[in-house]
Amino acid sequence: MPKVVVVYLSTSGNTKAMAEAIVEGAKSRNAEAEAFNFHEAKLDHIKSADAIAIGSSTFHYKILPPMEKFIDNLKDANVSGKPGAAFGSYGWSGEAPGLIAEKMREIGIKVIDPVLRVQYAPAEKDLEEAKRLGKDLAEKVKKNLKK
Ligand SMILES: Cc1cc2nc3c(=O)[nH]c(=O)nc-3n(C[C@H](O)[C@H](O)[C@H](O)COP(=O)(O)O)c2cc1C
Repeated sequence: MPKVVVVYLSTSGNTKAMAEAIVEGAKSRNAEAEAFNFHEAKLDHIKSADAIAIGSSTFHYKILPPMEKFIDNLKDANVSGKPGAAFGSYGWSGEAPGLIAEKMREIGIKVIDPVLRVQYAPAEKDLEEAKRLGKDLAEKVKKNLKK
């Protein structure tokens, strides 16, 4: 079964809710999917994934350094060529998802365009979009596995 791994940094639960909706979307397309807080995510979780979604809220116009480091370390997790997605909740400027996508692309992940950004708490329609992203990731993996 294709496997989608979602890793997030979320301080008040907004980005976490998006992560959970991505998981739900991927599962609805018969993929195995799981979301991890980035503190708990191990390189082995990523290595076993066919697709990776990474999300963070924006802080001081950036991503927090530990998340930045986490993404940089993924270059050792055999991620090149895999489909991916970047997402996150934000308040007023919302740079994090774009910065995450840039870092993911540097290590060869094929990030779906556009990134998914939601202002503050996701509304029902935002969660639907996040589910859509999870479905798209699952479908991309299935296509890759058929090749
Ligand atoms: C200390 C602090 C700094 C923040 N800096 C930014 C910022 O530079 N740009 C922005 O768009 N939002 C900023 N925010 C807003 C958060 O990104 C926003 O509240 C988001 O919904 C939090 O999502 P989370 O619950 O997933 O962490 C900041 C919030 C805090 C607490």
